[in-house]
Amino acid sequence: METITCLFLLIVVSLGFEINNNVSQKRFPDGFIFGTASSSYQTEGAWNLDGKGENIWDRFTHDHPEKIADGSNGDIAADSYHKLDEDIRLLKNLGVDFYRFSLSWARILPNGFPNKINQAGIDYYNELIDKLLENNIMPMITMYHWELPQKLHLLGGFTNPLIADWFEAYAKIVFQHFGDRVKFWSTFNEPRIMCSFGYGLGTFAPGIESSGVGDYLCAHNLLKAHARVYHMYKKQFKYQKGKIGIVIDCHWSEPATQSDSDIKAAERMTQFSCGWITNPIFTKKGDYPKVMKDFVKARSLAEGYNTSRLPEFTKDEIKYIRKSSDYLGLNHYMTFMVADKPADPIGDPSQEKDIQVATWQDPSWPPGTVYPFRSTPWGFRKVLKWLKDNCGDVDIYVTENGFPDAFSFEDKGRISYLLGYLSNLLESIYIDKVKVKAYTAWSFMDYFEWYSGYTVGFGLHYVNYTDPNRTRIPRASARIYTDIIKNRKLPS
Ligand code: NOJ
Repeated sequence: METITCLFLLIVVSLGFEINNNVSQKRFPDGFIFGTASSSYQTEGAWNLDGKGENIWDRFTHDHPEKIADGSNGDIAADSYHKLDEDIRLLKNLGVDFYRFSLSWARILPNGFPNKINQAGIDYYNELIDKLLENNIMPMITMYHWELPQKLHLLGGFTNPLIADWFEAYAKIVFQHFGDRVKFWSTFNEPRIMCSFGYGLGTFAPGIESSGVGDYLCAHNLLKAHARVYHMYKKQFKYQKGKIGIVIDCHWSEPATQSDSDIKAAERMTQFSCGWITNPIFTKKGDYPKVMKDFVKARSLAEGYNTSRLPEFTKDEIKYIRKSSDYLGLNHYMTFMVADKPADPIGDPSQEKDIQVATWQDPSWPPGTVYPFRSTPWGFRKVLKWLKDNCGDVDIYVTENGFPDAFSFEDKGRISYLLGYLSNLLESIYIDKVKVKAYTAWSFMDYFEWYSGYTVGFGLHYVNYTDPNRTRIPRASARIYTDIIKNRKLPS
């Protein structure tokens, strides 16, 4: 008996030693992969060249320059469309294992529909994929990073349930042309942000202001479109042997006090933001989070609706959407403090009001150059733990994490953000046992940051936007990142 106890203690102690050793040595596990990322509208440019069709961001920025901080647009952006070889060289120098980028739907299908394929668009992405592979960099493709073909928007875009058919037809063409070489797919990037900003607040294309209705409808149709493509891939393209999933954004919500009501409020905030998308896809029960359904329904009825503004899934839809992802792609940036906020008088329907919380950030957290980016590395570990507790033991790929620093080459703020977040990621892996498989530094280079235009710089590479050549120069953070990737460990 004593021998067994001793053996047990020995195992526990040595396991503990191994964990501490790994954490203190700051070493990444075998098989862990590092990458960087961009998205088509934010970097490609060539908005109307070689047969590309118009998309909602082209139209939004052209019609409403006043909605963009510097009145700019992505017409030329970083001109990546013309700088493919140079960008591949920079990626190679960076030493990344993979490059996450997105496809412009309207560059491939100018009208959005499959009956007219733009060969020049296919050629461009083929060349990018081939050159990445020649350099041993895995292409990781996002099929939709917010740029719907304008013609589909005219038919209702994400408020039309037919979006599932349109997206499926586009995805099929994408798999047919690129699936022989691309083995890692994401359907949508950050559904919550694109639906809330694009169909709720109206600060993103297509600029629809319908908070509390349009945003919920958009995400509802998007979730069905995502599941449709997941199942189509598994049925028709199984032989391609790739992984397919979705990329969600989750910030961390920290209770303002340890009171029961603030703890519940913070959890409610997380469910409304993260759980809105993770619950239907990654939990055993599926469907929207219960607290979200209850709160939206109560408020809708009080406003005079007959039913909830949050659309309902049928039982079959719940089943169809559940588990429709091979991995969870996580974009994480920031933390908010959250307090319970009493119901305000019923006014306009609004998603924010549905949640019934107050949120703010602590001024002592190191700020980026634009709200609401602040460095809170501990929030990263908490969000990863929340995902493990709520979504089961799913593989997590961190598909974006980064910091808007001042436009300098010695980007100290970004470096300290990177090191802090990566060290919390290691603790998640070794101590919390979260299955994090990859890390993506956002972003490869400075780019068009949606309604902030070119006023913020997230890039590991600086881009000179006053130079028609769009010269790229690596920042100090790029060199630090290269060392981390080479050594597979953080500097001690
Ligand atoms: C997430 C989005 O995917 C990306 O497009 C954006 O630039 C970053 N967040 C920074 O805001």
